[in-house]
Amino acid sequence: MICLGIETSCDETAAALVTGEGQVLGSVVASQIDLHEAFGGVVPEVAARRHLERLSPTVRRAIEEAGIGPEEIGLVAVTRGPGLAGALMVGLSFAKAYAFARGLPLVGVNHVVAHAYAAFLGAEVRYPELALVASGGHTVLLQLRGPQDALVLGRSRDDAAGEAFDKVARALGLGYPGGPLIEAIAREGDPLRCPLPVVRPIEGSLDFSFSGLKTAAQQRFLAGEGPADVAAAFQEAVLAQILSRTRVAIERLGARRLVFAGGVSANGFLRERLAQALAPLGVELVAPPMHFSTDNAAMIARLGLALYAAGERAPRELNAEPVIHPFKP
Ligand code: KG4
Ligand code: ZN
Repeated sequence: MICLGIETSCDETAAALVTGEGQVLGSVVASQIDLHEAFGGVVPEVAARRHLERLSPTVRRAIEEAGIGPEEIGLVAVTRGPGLAGALMVGLSFAKAYAFARGLPLVGVNHVVAHAYAAFLGAEVRYPELALVASGGHTVLLQLRGPQDALVLGRSRDDAAGEAFDKVARALGLGYPGGPLIEAIAREGDPLRCPLPVVRPIEGSLDFSFSGLKTAAQQRFLAGEGPADVAAAFQEAVLAQILSRTRVAIERLGARRLVFAGGVSANGFLRERLAQALAPLGVELVAPPMHFSTDNAAMIARLGLALYAAGERAPRELNAEPVIHPFKP
C-alpha cells in the first residue's frame, strides 16, 4: 500500500509517498520562508494563496520523484489540523478531490502527532511510546498508546519552544526562522557568562513554559551581553527544562525510549545533549532524520497509514480543525 501524504498547515506546501513499511519513496517540501521573511513571521492569507498555487505541482513532483504511476497510490492522508484555517482548507480540498476522483480512501491526520511519527519512518513503533514534540506552534509531551490514542502528559502553558527560539532570534537581530540561527551563533558563545533562570515545574504537572525564558534572554541582550553568549545560555535553559520534564515522565511511565520530534528537534545541540543525558538512565533517544524534523508530508503519510490500518476512514464532511480540542490523533 502506497500512501500520498499532503501537508499545508502552515508555511510549507508538502507532498510525499510512503509505503506501508514506512519507506519514503518521494518527499517534496516547497518552503514559503522567502515569502514571509519580510514580515518576520507567517501571514495566514498569503500562506493559503501560495499553497493554492504550489500544491498541485508539488504533488506531481513527489510522484515523479517516487517513480511510480498515480494508479499505484492506494490511500490519501491529509493534515486536518491544528494549523492556519485557510492553509489547512487548501490541502483538505485538494486531498478530498484527489481521493474522490480516484476512488481512494482518505484519512485526516493530526499534524502534531504526525511529527512524532516522523521518527517511525523506516523504523518500528513500539507502543506505548513517550514522545516530545517541540515545534513552532506546539510543545507537547505525549504518550502514544496506538495510532488513534495519544495522551497529552504535558504542554506549554505559553509560547511553544520553537516560537521562543524565533522570538529570541528576532530580539538578537538574527532573522527568521530563528532556530537554526540561534543554534549556529550559540556555538561561538559561552553559556555560563549569563545563565538564564531555571523554569521550575508547576507541582504535579509536566507542563512547559518558555515565555519567561524568552523575556530573560531579551533582557540580558539589552543589558549588553553578547548575542552568542545569550543564545548559548538560552539553549542550555531550554535543554534543562526539557530534561526536567521528560525525566519525570520517563520515571512515571517506565519508558525505555524517548521520541524527540518537531522543528526544534532539528537542533543538533539539543539532540546530542538529550541523548547523552538519557543514556545513563537506559533510555534511548529516537529522532527523525534531520530533514523530517521540520514540516513535511512523509510524516503525515506515515501516521495516515497507521490510522488506516487501525480502521480509520475520513467522513465526506472532513473539515479543517485549526484548534483540535479535545486533543486526538
Ligand atoms: O515543526 P515545524 O517545522 O513547524 C511547526 O509545526 O511549527 O517547526 C518550526 C520551528 C520554528 O520555530 C523553527 O525556529 C524551529 O522549528 N527550528 C529550530 C531549529 N530548526 C527549526 N529550533 C531550534 N533549532 C533548530 N535547529
Ligand atoms: Zn510542524
